[in-house]
Amino acid sequence: MTTLNTTTEAVSTLECDALILGVDAEGAVIAHPQLPEDVRASVTQTAQALEASGKLGATTVLPGTGTSARRIVLVGLGDGSEGSLRTAAGAASRACGKKPGTVVVALPADGDRAQSAIAEGALLGSYVFTDYKSDAEPEEEQVFTDWIIAGASEAAMARAKVIAGAVAGSRDLTNTPPLDLFPGSFADMAAGYGKQYGCDVKVWDPQMLADQGFGGILGVGMGSSRLPRLVRIEWKPAESKSIVALVGKGITFDTGGISLKPPASMETMKSDMSGAATVLHTVLAAARAELPVTVVGWLCLAENMPSGTAARPSDVLRMYSGKTVEVMNTDAEGRLVMADGLARAIEENPDVVLDIATLTGAQGMALGTRTSGVMGDEEIRAEVIAAADAVAEDMWPMPMPQHLRESIDSKVADIKNIGDPKGGGMLSAAWFLKEFVGDTPWAHLDVARPAFNEGAPYGYTVAGGTGAGLRTLFQFLEARAQA
Ligand code: BES
Ligand code: MN
Ligand code: ZN
Repeated sequence: MTTLNTTTEAVSTLECDALILGVDAEGAVIAHPQLPEDVRASVTQTAQALEASGKLGATTVLPGTGTSARRIVLVGLGDGSEGSLRTAAGAASRACGKKPGTVVVALPADGDRAQSAIAEGALLGSYVFTDYKSDAEPEEEQVFTDWIIAGASEAAMARAKVIAGAVAGSRDLTNTPPLDLFPGSFADMAAGYGKQYGCDVKVWDPQMLADQGFGGILGVGMGSSRLPRLVRIEWKPAESKSIVALVGKGITFDTGGISLKPPASMETMKSDMSGAATVLHTVLAAARAELPVTVVGWLCLAENMPSGTAARPSDVLRMYSGKTVEVMNTDAEGRLVMADGLARAIEENPDVVLDIATLTGAQGMALGTRTSGVMGDEEIRAEVIAAADAVAEDMWPMPMPQHLRESIDSKVADIKNIGDPKGGGMLSAAWFLKEFVGDTPWAHLDVARPAFNEGAPYGYTVAGGTGAGLRTLFQFLEARAQA
């Protein structure tokens, strides 16, 4: 088990495996109320002799000489902002190695949110996924990190536990292979968690989906032997300031269907359910934090497989909303399941609906691997961006040019599931979703590339599932709770 605690003692006197300290642009160790000045000065001398960098996230490891720590991990704090503290703590946490034991963190933080950011970074940077490693210790014997965040308040640590726990939960689901995570097992898991955290859960099985006309979810899922599900999970506080619906794309594996993807593009497609994973864990986090906001999460779960029962290009689906969609490309499946989830979500008249999906490769072409695109109603889009900025998640507002709406007109049905082939694929996908949100205030988050880190770890972002968007959604809910 990982633990998170605080201390009021001088950090240099604590027996630990690693002591994390910050360095500034001059390579000097940054003061902390619990770091004695003589220790700070002597570690600074060593740091400067080694030219320790103050660049954000740069780490230098020293022996713990002059302290009770086995070693000292110096980390550059960059501009020292709250976001930089989270990143620095994450980078330092990774520099501690895989089984560091007890780690004391003494980075300067002003107030609960900054302290929480440090603890979040530490916990997220030390995340590992070992479920499928046969040489991993059994869980109860694994040496996880005992984190000690110097000077952190109880409130800050409680907050960090909820947020980092939720991100880790989302990452776990994303990293789980599709043999084990499929619509039925995902729905069962959601039901189990819902019970544990006092959330109401309802699951639509394939028969119910058919009876109630969920043509989008069924149309995508019918090529698989493991049939689709729709899950509704609700956190309902005694006193509620706002009703927020969250809809997540939960394609447990995206082969592209009959419009089959090339093998290389398929390698990371177990991550095509990260939107749903993030929605699930955001609702659970709201419950654990007892936010005074009603949160209704919708998980649109299907496996996109090619088979004799799969939908074909040119098939027309009748969606839950009643609209008809011509499926020109079975690889544009995310918008089909999301359309049904959105249409069902807005039936309950929420104050706002947000959706999160690994929707388009075009997101990566436009914004790269780390920046999610946010589309939708201007006001809600701005509210999402403000939330993202507040928790230092990389998101950028994107437009919905009017001419791209016409690109999804169909010759035979109401609309088709692909837009202008010349470009703007992320934006025409947003137009498609907009057809299913009615008048409900709405924003759409395309996290296609940011949800899964194919490259090297950086900051608190490890390789594999990242939980992208979760902290933003939670912040969005917190802001609504305070409004
Ligand atoms: N799941 C993919 C989008 C994706 C691509 C996510 C790369 C993460 C990394 C989605 O279902 C998809 O295949 N989209 C197509 C749409 C196209 C056929 C209009 C795409 O982006 O290529
Ligand atoms: Mn696809
Ligand atoms: Zn997909």
